[in-house]
Amino acid sequence: MTEPTDRTKASRRCFLSMTAGLAAAGAGVRAALADNAKNLPPNVPDWTRSLGAGVGTTPYGVPSKYEKDVIRRTVPWLTATPESSVAFTPLHELDGIITPNGLCFERHHGGIAEIDPHDYRLMLHGLVDKPLIFALEDIKRLPRVNKIYFLECAANSGMEWRGAQLNGCQYTHGMVHCVQYTGVPLKLLLEQAGLKPNAKWILAEGGDAAAMDRSIPLDKALDDCLIAYRMNGEMLRPEQGYPVRLVVPGWQGNVWVKWLRRLKVGDQPWYTREETSKYTDLLADGRARKFTYVMDAKSVITSPSPQAPLKQKGFTVISGLAWSGRGKVKRVDVSLDGGRNWRTARIDGPVFDKACVRFYAEIDWNGEPLLLQSRAMDETGYVQPTKESLRKIRGVNSIYHNNGIQTWSLKADGEVENVEVG
Ligand code: MTE
Repeated sequence: MTEPTDRTKASRRCFLSMTAGLAAAGAGVRAALADNAKNLPPNVPDWTRSLGAGVGTTPYGVPSKYEKDVIRRTVPWLTATPESSVAFTPLHELDGIITPNGLCFERHHGGIAEIDPHDYRLMLHGLVDKPLIFALEDIKRLPRVNKIYFLECAANSGMEWRGAQLNGCQYTHGMVHCVQYTGVPLKLLLEQAGLKPNAKWILAEGGDAAAMDRSIPLDKALDDCLIAYRMNGEMLRPEQGYPVRLVVPGWQGNVWVKWLRRLKVGDQPWYTREETSKYTDLLADGRARKFTYVMDAKSVITSPSPQAPLKQKGFTVISGLAWSGRGKVKRVDVSLDGGRNWRTARIDGPVFDKACVRFYAEIDWNGEPLLLQSRAMDETGYVQPTKESLRKIRGVNSIYHNNGIQTWSLKADGEVENVEVG
């Protein structure tokens, strides 16, 4: 056996003190949660005394009834109608990098289209040699790929531009999800149709009541866009665009057109409503940035957070998510004192291109108030900025692309509040 180096000795010491702390913490949690002594050891609990429900009771499985609060949530005052609205991912209740299908945030402009897959068609026309119409089965017959990507709405954290607003990472950061898509590279469809020499842009249009349409540069369409029909193995959920949506890795969610109906190839952008009056970034001097597609590196501590307060002192795991539309997340730092000092967090699980990563930082909390922050860095060298530095460049008129560092104030009683540090 090789002698442990100083580093491994240190980490072993750390692990030992961690496990001692954990044992103490576990006893505390058990005492706090125990409400029916007859089910506790050494007694035989109720659920062991009779047969459980039969196999097939739930042909499509649902979470335990004890997890009933793990749900998407809306902010009622945010939008005038439920058809054009958003329900947020409960990030504080999740772990790992994959968002369960039923918890992925949903954002629609004209309600959820209900499309009979037999009547579904995708039209491909414009500057092509041979216009084509694909039925769903035609798309499913083409060579497919499986890719894990995050999708973030450009308006995620949009309410926070003028200061801390919403108390919960579900609301401040919950317009992001990360799933595995199965689909066909858009490049294959375009090659089948044959591109004219002057082809430069693609218009993607949805089949919903909003007929949402966006212009996408041909380079991106040929690079990594997918015509996706499955998420996490099963067919897309209706709210995520059943039966087919466009996947535009790393780019703002608005261009990921759902219920995809039409792709038109052109030689210039279309300047649709969604890329002129909306999804442009109004600067302080009145000019607007347009076609700001890429979602820059961002991160958030999901626990502890306002909806996930700390229940006791001692050993605890700080957990969070980070992502970058420019590639892989390379490093995540965590600060306990509002950004004065940083420590490198532990990334656990796979690190994919343009996908979420899960990070952890273990601490032994003695009950003193902390200012928790996380800061993502991606493989291009881009570092997530502070909100202050972002506002210096972008002003406060924007709604979109707020990737500033989030601060949670952890108080002595374990409650957590959304705050900003000067
Ligand atoms: N596609 C269509 N056809 N209609 C829509 O309203 N909303 C867009 C985009 N695609 C939308 C759409 C917006 S603004 C976002 S952020 C993403 O879908 C949200 O995707 P999700 O609902 O799967 O989370």
